[in-house]
Amino acid sequence: MPGKMAMIFGASNILWIVFAASQAFKIETSPESRTLVQIGDSVSLMCSTTGCEAPSFSWRTQIDSPLNAKVRNEGTKSTLTMDPVSFENEHSYLCTATCGSKKEEKEIKVDVYSFPKDPEIQLSVKCVVPDVYPFDRLEVELLKGDSRMKHQEFLEDMERKSLETKSLEVAFTPTLEDTGKALVCRAQLHMFETDSEEASPKERETYRELQVYILPKNTAIHVHPSTSLQEGDSVTMTCSSEGLPAPEIFWNKKLDNGDLQLLSGNATLTLIAMKVEDSGIYVCQGVNVIGANGKEIELIVKEKPFTVDISPGHQVATQIGDSVVLRCSVTGCETPSFSWRTQRDSPLNGIVSSDRTESTVTLTSVSLENEDHYLCTVTCGRRKMEKEVQMKVYSFPQDPEIEMSGLLVSGTPVTISCKVPLVYPSGHLEIEIHKGETLMVNKHFLEEMNIKSLENKSLEVTFTPTSEDTGKVLVCQAKLHIGEVESEPKQRQSTQTLYVNVAPTDTTVSVNPSAVLEEGSSVNMTCTTRGLPSPKILWSRQLSNGDLQPLSENTTLTLISTKMEDSGIYVCEGINEAGRSRKEVELIIQVAPKDIQLTAFPSESVKEGDMVIISCTCGNVPETWIILKKKTEMGDTVLKSIDGAYTIHKVQLEDAGVYECESKNKVGSELRSLTLDVKGRENNKDYFSPELLVLYCISFLIIPAIGMIIYFARKANMKGSYSLVDAQKSKV
Ligand SMILES: *[C@@H]1O[C@H](CO)[C@@H](O)[C@H](O)[C@H]1NC(C)=O
Ligand SMILES: *[C@@H]1O[C@H](CO)[C@@H](O)[C@H](O)[C@H]1NC(C)=O
Ligand SMILES: *[C@@H]1O[C@H](CO)[C@@H](O)[C@H](O)[C@H]1NC(C)=O
Ligand SMILES: *[C@@H]1O[C@H](CO)[C@@H](O)[C@H](O)[C@H]1NC(C)=O
Repeated sequence: MPGKMAMIFGASNILWIVFAASQAFKIETSPESRTLVQIGDSVSLMCSTTGCEAPSFSWRTQIDSPLNAKVRNEGTKSTLTMDPVSFENEHSYLCTATCGSKKEEKEIKVDVYSFPKDPEIQLSVKCVVPDVYPFDRLEVELLKGDSRMKHQEFLEDMERKSLETKSLEVAFTPTLEDTGKALVCRAQLHMFETDSEEASPKERETYRELQVYILPKNTAIHVHPSTSLQEGDSVTMTCSSEGLPAPEIFWNKKLDNGDLQLLSGNATLTLIAMKVEDSGIYVCQGVNVIGANGKEIELIVKEKPFTVDISPGHQVATQIGDSVVLRCSVTGCETPSFSWRTQRDSPLNGIVSSDRTESTVTLTSVSLENEDHYLCTVTCGRRKMEKEVQMKVYSFPQDPEIEMSGLLVSGTPVTISCKVPLVYPSGHLEIEIHKGETLMVNKHFLEEMNIKSLENKSLEVTFTPTSEDTGKVLVCQAKLHIGEVESEPKQRQSTQTLYVNVAPTDTTVSVNPSAVLEEGSSVNMTCTTRGLPSPKILWSRQLSNGDLQPLSENTTLTLISTKMEDSGIYVCEGINEAGRSRKEVELIIQVAPKDIQLTAFPSESVKEGDMVIISCTCGNVPETWIILKKKTEMGDTVLKSIDGAYTIHKVQLEDAGVYECESKNKVGSELRSLTLDVKGRENNKDYFSPELLVLYCISFLIIPAIGMIIYFARKANMKGSYSLVDAQKSKV
């Protein structure tokens, strides 16, 4: 069912549209049917159509007179314009629109009228000639000065005999120029005397001198400087009025009851040193013989504004200990009186001094107690005014202090602290630490502000300097934001140029000519090291207990003509603030063997079969080889000795002879010899078996220098001998 309904509605819609299209061609006009226009104005009639693409229009009047108008066609519109409108336009206009075969027509009626001006009052002059006969001979003229205003001859039919009164009237508007001129009415009756040939008319004339008066008018007031004034001001009012004769000017003041009080008969009224009571309505009157014209003006005199200024401003920030002067000054009051108080009604703590228009409070040394509002009350007569200044107290007496937890050493963290001492209000403090261009840390100390005291605030930052930081500037900047008083915060800063120390390093020692020397020669030991600042050199000798004995602060330690005792460990230290670095060198001074002793025990002279010990002892010289030999005809026999001692348990005759001990090191050698004498016994021969032995000098076996042992071992090997040095070497 709903589907069917929809179909029905659809069909009826289509039908309606078709119907509407066929009925669409219509004509409309504006104005609709009638318009009223004043002659001289302009009017447009408009005709428009709907339902036609391109209609054609035509205009005509109902009685087919000329249109007296301009036609303009524009699409579906046609306009008929009458400009200006005249009597010829008082018609019914018909607009005809044609669209194909269809035609529509509509009519607009244009009614015209004329009523352009206000009415005028006109005066006239009338010249009356009474009781004239024969009045057809009468000629009357009206003259103003020399010019004729009007003239008339009464050439009328004389139907009856009667005396008649004739008159001549002319409209007359007097002007100022007419004053003094004569107004003449001249009447002539053209009658002829009996015995005279010429016409000699009878003539009468009346003469009046014109006096033109003008009522005072256009009374105007000019006020300088203004109608709105202040106490003490002056005002000049000038009044003018037009009229004839020229009006006299009177200045009055309107009293409260409406009466006028005469002030001056002068056009210019000047009032000086005005008071509030001078306010009111002033009336200027222009007066002449025929009347008066007045004009009112109201003057308003206000009390001089009374102002109180407080300086340095509505807020002032003062540093603790400084002095400040609060100044309250008055303008617009002759005899003000001043009083000062604080908002919390605490004592002023200041010196008050007042003169006529100014009062000051001087606070010589501002303290935290002065943080208050100071109010200045000024009384001027009945009026009272109060101004306040808010005293902000601050303390920011010193530049920040930069402190470092220690020396700046490359690679070692250091804590920098920036301390701002004795600051108030600390809650408004901001500290920043910059390194070069970089902000390292900043902090706003936005804390509770209940405590009124000076505080030390500090900001810390830890960083690890590198040598690139040297030369950079460390800046500690403290800003104290003191309210709105100053848009810029108070600012203090301290700077410190960074110098980063580098601990001594790469300490090296060069020994010239060598660390192993012969006694008596000289040696230069040169130490170099690096660091920042340049390290100091300290040469010391290491004592047997490990202590260092300082020797020199020169780079090069020179030992001239060395002795054996100069052997030992020398230490060079590079020292600066950042640390120390050491390098050791062992100096070995070699000495040629000396003071060796060769002895025979118990004696150099023994009996066959006795025991004899031949012993060779070396002197106090290290690194010495000892060789014990027996000289024979066949050559030298090296004896096998123990600790330099060669024991013959049972001495034989053959053992007698020359024994030699050679002490030798790489520096030199020393020889000692003795002759053993053996006395014979019977059957007491022992066998002789000399053995080869190289003895190392016992007394210096304890020398620990490995280098030396190697050296000697090498030396021994080269000689193809074995020694206990080898044992020493293998032990190492
Ligand atoms: C008017 O005022 C002017 C100047 O103020 C003065 O010269 C003149 O005499 C005054 N006239 C009268 C009538 O007061
Ligand atoms: C603040 O530092 C100053 C020195 O700069 C010192 O005399 C004072 O005692 C310190 N005050 C406080 C509260 O630490
Ligand atoms: C040590 O140095 C000095 C000065 O430079 C020089 O005169 C001397 O010959 C040097 N001695 C040795 C052993 O090199
Ligand atoms: C250090 O050197 C200077 C000159 O070069 C010399 O006069 C001085 O004696 C030296 N000091 C030592 C302790 O060697």
